[in-house]
Amino acid sequence: MRALRAIRGGAPGACLLAASLTAAATPPPGPKHLGTASCATGVCHGRSAPVADRDVALNEYAIWLQKDRHSQAYRALESAEGRRILANLGLPSAKQAKICLDCHADNIATAQQGAKFKLVDGVGCEACHGAAEKWIESHSHKEATHAANLARGLYPSETPTGRAELCLGCHAGTAERFATHELMGAGHPRLSFELEAFTTDQPPHFRRDDPSYRRRKGRIDGVNLWVTGQLRSVSRQMTLLQSWWGRAGGALPEFALYDCHSCHHPMSNARWSRERVGAGIAPGTLRLQTGNLVVLRAITETLDGPKESDALGQATQALVLAGQRDAASLRIATERISAWVKAHDEWTRRSYSAEDTVRLRKSLVRYAAANRASDFAAAEQIVLGLDSLSYSLNDHDARRRVLDALFDTVKNATGFDPTRFASVAKTASAEL
Ligand code: HEC
Ligand code: HEC
Ligand code: HEC
Ligand code: HEC
Repeated sequence: MRALRAIRGGAPGACLLAASLTAAATPPPGPKHLGTASCATGVCHGRSAPVADRDVALNEYAIWLQKDRHSQAYRALESAEGRRILANLGLPSAKQAKICLDCHADNIATAQQGAKFKLVDGVGCEACHGAAEKWIESHSHKEATHAANLARGLYPSETPTGRAELCLGCHAGTAERFATHELMGAGHPRLSFELEAFTTDQPPHFRRDDPSYRRRKGRIDGVNLWVTGQLRSVSRQMTLLQSWWGRAGGALPEFALYDCHSCHHPMSNARWSRERVGAGIAPGTLRLQTGNLVVLRAITETLDGPKESDALGQATQALVLAGQRDAASLRIATERISAWVKAHDEWTRRSYSAEDTVRLRKSLVRYAAANRASDFAAAEQIVLGLDSLSYSLNDHDARRRVLDALFDTVKNATGFDPTRFASVAKTASAEL
């Protein structure tokens, strides 16, 4: 397994009156989630060791239970760290904390819970693969096809876009659930995500390089996953800005949408410069997060040239300025960027040659060396990206020394020094 190089540093409840008024119009419950125990029997996905002669290894449950943090996601709420967050928020127990359960468990309505369903199983099989009621019987038949499984409600987690949307649903948030600054203030770790690295580190319980896997589901290309993750992280950020910016109540916007380190860094560490933050952005002002946008700009320069990349740069700057104004400006700026991402959707479906990958890597390190990716979140995304691309190029071991040096600069968010990051990147650029 590859060590994950992620660096870690209420939603309004439904109004009861409104809920009862609309009860008549509530659609019937969706198909049932049967519970992880339904997948984990000895003849199904509950083997202790992988089997060779079947399409799937059948030890998925053991991997999930023993190595995958998702199986512990509910328990994290009851850990000392979890209890401290709950107490700070005045929440009496994990069991009733919908705000937490929405991301730390498969928190579906009681009507959709099958006999073996257990909330304490955390992020179980059906939280990712979808309600199994309609396909549990048929999907193990010899004649079952992937298309037929999908038609019965299996979630398309194999496609880069399907997977990005799935993971981002918890690792970034949705219009309904979000790790707000109130949660951060209570002690929740900062969320960061990169699709390719997180896929590798989950750890995988599927054999993506197996001929049988490729025949059924196609080839999964690491570079494509990485690019798709960047595109969809940006569009997700736009959704979150539209749904959460003014939701905290009071006069202040939702702080968790802003660059954490634009508020959280020592005052003695004077780091402001126009090249870092962008022309036209006044010193001492609050800036929205732009980590994924900066990386997307570097990608765009490689795939589409400097003109298109500059256009995205201008849209990013407009977004940061809108984040210093009001909801109306923000809507215009986020819609512009969402449209930009939509117009480049083809990048989620194309394949990338080794030559493309080398150019992408060079572009990333050039951005870093030029001090254009020096907000902590951008630097972190650059380092994760350089790592991912080096694995795709199969030269990670040969480049380990420079990759480690870069990783070292973002290991500790609090002590992050943008100038040092740029200078390490400058040295690394000769080798990457
Ligand atoms: C938007 C989704 C989301 C919400 C809401 C959320 N969490 Fe989390 N939480 C995560 C993710 C994702 C991680 C893993 C972060 C990482 O390591 O990248 C995490 C990590 C944690 C951790 C650290 C776990 C560990 O093993 O180190 C604790 C503790 C935690 N959350 C508690 C809570 C509590 C308590 C609540 C409710 C008040 C809550 N979370 C709400 C998504 C969420
Ligand atoms: C956090 C999300 C997540 C969870 C939880 C999860 N999976 Fe998966 N699973 C994936 C992804 C992503 C893939 C790879 C893409 C694909 O083939 O759909 C995958 C692939 C698989 C495959 C391989 C399919 C093939 O065609 O070769 C099986 C089987 C599987 N999962 C079973 C399980 C079981 C059983 C559980 C629960 C014990 C589980 N998964 C939990 C995300 C998840
Ligand atoms: C239902 C919400 C949910 C979904 C969907 C989800 N995750 Fe998670 N994930 C979590 C939570 C919560 C944690 C933290 C668990 C803990 O540490 O206790 C986590 C932890 C992780 C970790 C460990 C992070 C670390 O810091 O070590 C990885 C890797 C990960 N998820 C990858 C993925 C991938 C890849 C997908 C999509 C295929 C995905 N997750 C989908 C909620 C989710
Ligand atoms: C607009 C400025 C601002 C932004 C942006 C911001 N914070 Fe905060 N943060 C604050 C303030 C103010 C406090 C309260 C400090 C205190 O009570 O001493 C705080 C407190 C915290 C705390 C609790 C520290 C403690 O003393 O216990 C954490 C953790 C935290 N923020 C994390 C984050 C993360 C993660 C982000 C980015 C997602 C972020 N913050 C973005 C202003 C900000």
